[in-house]
Amino acid sequence: MSNIVYVLNGPNLNLLGLREPEIYGSDTLDDIAAMLEDRARDLDLAIDMRQSNHEGHLVEWLHEAQAEGAHAVLLNAAAYTHTSIALLDAIRAIRTPVVEVHLSDPSTREDFRHHSYVGLAATRTFQGMGAQSYVRALEYVAEMQVMRRE
Ligand code: DQA
Repeated sequence: MSNIVYVLNGPNLNLLGLREPEIYGSDTLDDIAAMLEDRARDLDLAIDMRQSNHEGHLVEWLHEAQAEGAHAVLLNAAAYTHTSIALLDAIRAIRTPVVEVHLSDPSTREDFRHHSYVGLAATRTFQGMGAQSYVRALEYVAEMQVMRRE
């Protein structure tokens, strides 16, 4: 197993900083990557940060995380969280632990955000803390025991 943590970001998160800052805050995805890289150094981990607006890319990156022996995946699937059985199946198909991340707290927003397919298979969820949701998720994967599903 490697010390690499894949941080996978779904649709519209490339617009962070500009996109509805009253909900998502003013940090860009690059700002979040820099924060995670700083924290990862202390935790003896390395970050591989990616973003795509395409569901299939996220599915393929989950497969890759497993094939590369990544330590864990932090996944903010954005709107695909609430729609994607393909992501649910991909998380179930791999043994790499996947932690669900959201900047906002979807459970306090519109009803259509209350259901999470990602959450049905993720090891844990960190949400509602802005960029700190990612940092807390990273600290969690640094601490966790090997939680591989048999
Ligand atoms: C989000 C929450 C989702 O409901 C939304 O579709 C996003 C961002 C978040 O980080 O708060 O695009 O995942």
